[in-house]
Amino acid sequence: MRLTIGIKLFIAYFVITGSIVWFVTDKVSMRVTKGIDEAAEDVMVDSSNLLAQMVGDNIKDDQINVKKAHQLISKYLNREINASIYSVTKKNPNLQVYVTNKDGIVVYDSTGKRKGKDYSKWNDVYLTLKGEYGRRSSAFNPETKDPTAEQKAMYVAAPIYHQDKIFGVLTVVKPTVDLKPYIIEQQKHIEEYAIYLFLVSLLFGAGASYAVTRGTRKLVNYTTALSKGESVAAPKIRQVEFAELSNAIEELRVDLEGREYVEEYINTMAHELRTPITGIRATAENLLMPMSSSQREHFVNNILDANKKMDLLVNRLLKLSRIERRDQLEDVEKVDVETLVKEVIAAPSRIGNITSRSIKVEYEIDREFSVKVEKLLAEQAIGNIIDNAIDFTPVGSTIGIKASESNTHVNIQVFDQGLGVPEHARRQIFRRFFSSSRPDTGKRGNGLGLRFVKKIMSLHGGTVSLKNRFMKDGAVATLKFPLS
Ligand SMILES: Nc1ncnc2c1ncn2[C@@H]1O[C@H](COP(=O)(O)OP(=O)(O)OP(=O)(O)O)[C@@H](O)[C@H]1O
Ligand SMILES: [Mg+2]
Repeated sequence: MRLTIGIKLFIAYFVITGSIVWFVTDKVSMRVTKGIDEAAEDVMVDSSNLLAQMVGDNIKDDQINVKKAHQLISKYLNREINASIYSVTKKNPNLQVYVTNKDGIVVYDSTGKRKGKDYSKWNDVYLTLKGEYGRRSSAFNPETKDPTAEQKAMYVAAPIYHQDKIFGVLTVVKPTVDLKPYIIEQQKHIEEYAIYLFLVSLLFGAGASYAVTRGTRKLVNYTTALSKGESVAAPKIRQVEFAELSNAIEELRVDLEGREYVEEYINTMAHELRTPITGIRATAENLLMPMSSSQREHFVNNILDANKKMDLLVNRLLKLSRIERRDQLEDVEKVDVETLVKEVIAAPSRIGNITSRSIKVEYEIDREFSVKVEKLLAEQAIGNIIDNAIDFTPVGSTIGIKASESNTHVNIQVFDQGLGVPEHARRQIFRRFFSSSRPDTGKRGNGLGLRFVKKIMSLHGGTVSLKNRFMKDGAVATLKFPLS
């Protein structure tokens, strides 16, 4: 499976946000642990000083009153507490306390294990005796060697004063595991927030990758369709960059199409003009020979004919090219179908053709239909299909013109009695310059008529079709105008 740009983006986003959230959570958690340790130490400083003050107040005969200290401290340590601190319930102080004399020798220890030992080298005692703040972090149980983090305890000392001199040290010991529940509690909250944060940011990431994928998908579909030669509209994309890209492609397409279009026009025009141009040259060369005036008249008329043909071709091409460049109607008006059709039939060149070929025109318009059209264009569309019918129907036959209405359209149909559209021509009839010779005269047209009609109909939001008649000779051309 190939990963789409959207999925790649999402994975990158996932990794980056994941790492950031993890890093920040880790750091915050560390800060919280440190903060809790510091807060606990602060409280221990208070309690050690309070106890030191009390022990100092009981000094008798220049001696620390060990008995009194023992009474005081063991009572304090055995107090029953029932404090609910967040989700943790504290039952007793869970502290150890020891007292040293001014030489650092332990004179009292709440556990009994340290009594008589020399603690003058331990930081808490050493610094406090020097008049500084003394603290250390070492094993909770003095017998443990190489303690783990869990086995450690915080030692905070306070000086015992007697007659304004440091007379000894009182140290309070608290195991670090005691703080663990608070730390775990806070870490749980932090982790929860981190997960929410991560999920929310992932959601944004997913949204962003979706937008990118959708944009690229639309562009890919669009360009693929274009390269297959399908006519597709540029996709609507909200993302600015994609929209710009899509517009650029669209401009390029229009530009290329325009170039192709101009090339095609020039080629065909050159091709179509070659015959009359050659004809004119041959005739002019003939005119250089001595001849009778009636012969001369014949040749001159040939030249005039060729000239007329060229003129017509150039005019029609210009007209078609003008309409093919339009993308909307002007001067739209409501027009009665019957009037419109009859005006088209009555055009002098057309009525001339009809009478000279003894063609009958039958109408099947039994009520009023109106269409909203640009009148000149509608006349040209109807005129073109009628001209085809006149050209392809045999001399003396009948052309039928019918108007009808469906739920959505007004249909104008022109029936003839010719040979219909041969199979091989069916797919070509709307192509520019495709023209077959007329059965009667053998002459071809320019092959621009239906192309013109098609463009006119699409400008009106309608369609044109040309089919063979059902169970009858001839073809039927249908124009569908949307109901106004
Ligand atoms: N009524 C019809 N019966 C049979 N074939 C038709 C009919 N109308 C159109 N066609 C076919 O469609 C082709 C294209 O028609 P179109 O009107 O575009 O060109 P044309 O009539 O040949 O030339 P132009 O209209 O430019 O003078 C015709 O040459 C013919 O092959
Ligand atoms: Mg035609």
